[in-house]
Amino acid sequence: MPAKIIVIMSPKGGVGKTTTAVNLATAISLLNKKTLLVDANLETPHVAVYYGFVGFKYSLEDVLNGSAKPEDAVYTGDNPNFHLLPSRIAKKGGDKSVYKLVNLNLHLKKLINRYDFIIIDSKPSYDIEFIKLIENANCIIVSNPDITSIIEAKKLKDELDDAGIPILGMALNRTNSRIKEQVTEKEAKDLTKIENLWKIREDNTVYRALKTGIPIVMLSQKSAASRDLINMAKEIIKL
Ligand SMILES: Nc1ncnc2c1ncn2[C@@H]1O[C@H](COP(=O)(O)OP(=O)(O)O)[C@@H](O)[C@H]1O
Ligand SMILES: [Mg+2]
Repeated sequence: MPAKIIVIMSPKGGVGKTTTAVNLATAISLLNKKTLLVDANLETPHVAVYYGFVGFKYSLEDVLNGSAKPEDAVYTGDNPNFHLLPSRIAKKGGDKSVYKLVNLNLHLKKLINRYDFIIIDSKPSYDIEFIKLIENANCIIVSNPDITSIIEAKKLKDELDDAGIPILGMALNRTNSRIKEQVTEKEAKDLTKIENLWKIREDNTVYRALKTGIPIVMLSQKSAASRDLINMAKEIIKL
């Protein structure tokens, strides 16, 4: 069976797309599924930072511009189920040539039979042209529990629905039960009409994980956000 492809999306930046993509991919791989994580945010790529992974030779940019084969830019570590196709953090600004992503589907096709899951991190955007380019892609929308974030998530949902792109669900990231003013899970479901919702709690360990370069689902499996992300990974495997 070819890999299930999941693109992590949100119109807003800073809501937790990369945190979700990194930890979901890592958690799924720890559940014994062969997983490839692709950093397709060419403008502000941070996936490698979440793994403390620097100084790699080839990146997705090299694959897209034809100077490397996909397998040259796929890296693996101690966990044989986890592979990473990173993007390079540019010294000055980001790579604005996002049009290069048109070729991503072609390269994914060469890899798709080697994995159970391919998780793709993306830049913040309403633009669904990117996901439309990827054959058989599914989407997970990430939102924060505030009304503006939810409104934008709903707009993206409607666009994806119009294009016939399946939405596996929404990650409601940074929930905090002490903040009563936050949008509740029920409100988020009612407002977005997204049926599947995974709550990820606000958790300072997320910052510690980022500083140490170890995904939170490996660094601290008992922490609140880690438990939520592992639970989300288990449910996604069953979908
Ligand atoms: N559940 C959470 N609890 C605490 N901090 C979080 C949580 N999720 C994300 N963050 C922090 O928020 C910031 C933005 O997250 P990130 O995943 O990079 O967002 P995006 O990829 O959508 O721009 C990061 O500093 C990250 O550590
Ligand atoms: Mg990001």
